[in-house]
Amino acid sequence: MGVEILCNARLATMNGPACGLIERGALLLEGGCIRWAGPEVDLPTDHAATSRHDLGGRLVTPAPIDCHTHLVHGGERAREFELRLQGASYEEIARAGGGILSTVAATRAASEDDLVASALPRLDALLAEGVAVIEVKSGYGLDRDTELRMLRAARRLEALRPVRIVTSYLGAHACPPDTDPDAYIDEICIPALHAAHAEGLVDAVDGFCETIAFTPAQIARVFDAARALGLPVKLHAEQLSHLGGTALAARYGALSADHVEYASEDDARAMARAGTVAVLLPGAFYTLNEAQLPPIAAFRAHGVAMALATDCNPGSSPLTSILLTMNMGCTLFRLTPEEALRGVTENAARALGLADCGRLAPGLRADLAVWNVENPAELAWRIGFNPLHQRWFNGAPC
Ligand code: NIG
Ligand code: FE
Repeated sequence: MGVEILCNARLATMNGPACGLIERGALLLEGGCIRWAGPEVDLPTDHAATSRHDLGGRLVTPAPIDCHTHLVHGGERAREFELRLQGASYEEIARAGGGILSTVAATRAASEDDLVASALPRLDALLAEGVAVIEVKSGYGLDRDTELRMLRAARRLEALRPVRIVTSYLGAHACPPDTDPDAYIDEICIPALHAAHAEGLVDAVDGFCETIAFTPAQIARVFDAARALGLPVKLHAEQLSHLGGTALAARYGALSADHVEYASEDDARAMARAGTVAVLLPGAFYTLNEAQLPPIAAFRAHGVAMALATDCNPGSSPLTSILLTMNMGCTLFRLTPEEALRGVTENAARALGLADCGRLAPGLRADLAVWNVENPAELAWRIGFNPLHQRWFNGAPC
């Protein structure tokens, strides 16, 4: 692989404030990595460039990262959308056997090929907006075979498209019907985690701590099992009520606590101390017509890194647009456009424990998005418009 020069570009490097913007910038790429990034006048000359790309003044950002998705799943839940419009709540639908459990039934009925085939259009929608890394969770199997099948399907996506997939085992997503939750955790969820880990299918371990899911004590047992396997943890926490999941996640040094609408100022302090990223999911907030806003001011005051993700799933967030997610982060949660961009780049990488992407800097992966815009704020501003000019993955345009 030769040396590629990208010049005449505005670079949102994300190094430092104001998006680390470099006005007339250039990038030197080699071997799938960024070798140099800076003002074009300082471009090093000690290289034999094989190609030079004039970007015509376009904006280059790190390729977006979607750090929380349920991209692989069976079926759809448009009927529940209709029920919610008629007044039923997410919780009522879940307690009546719908919600996550209805997707569990559809996912159990799907083959691995079915799961891959149905995930691809959603994946392609994200790639069309420049996304390079997607986290994909299990959690719609709730039995060993289906949980493993979901994770295998997620891994297979990487061979089918130029994308990096990071998996999370989410066996503790909901309790199967007619099953004791404690028995489920100890006899199904944790043994299935061991099996999935043995097959190399798990990058991190997730859970859902909520009145309609699992208690902090039950999640702690899953986290202990993860810790024994050397796997990082993360948690769906404080989405619908304040149950203590965020504090638990921070105690375990979690990569992230996700949703966190009901998190408190103390939770924010604990997250800051633990380096736990707040993954904000405005698509779920919007779809469920929630009113409780995440404590953004406390996150800012205590220095909690905030990421944004689609939460793409068939129930609470049927969203496959990282740009709309950024827009919603600003309009619904009052993030600044810069925070939104950082939320899908630098901080999304942190939420996945990835140190090799999310910024434009020497040594990091050359996963880039070239946009037909001048300013970073334009990315979060429009609704339903995709200004992507070109996506670079692993040092090559695609
Ligand atoms: O992140 N909160 C729990 N889990 C998913 C919802 C999954 C579903 O409704 O199918 C979420 O929003
Ligand atoms: Fe989720």
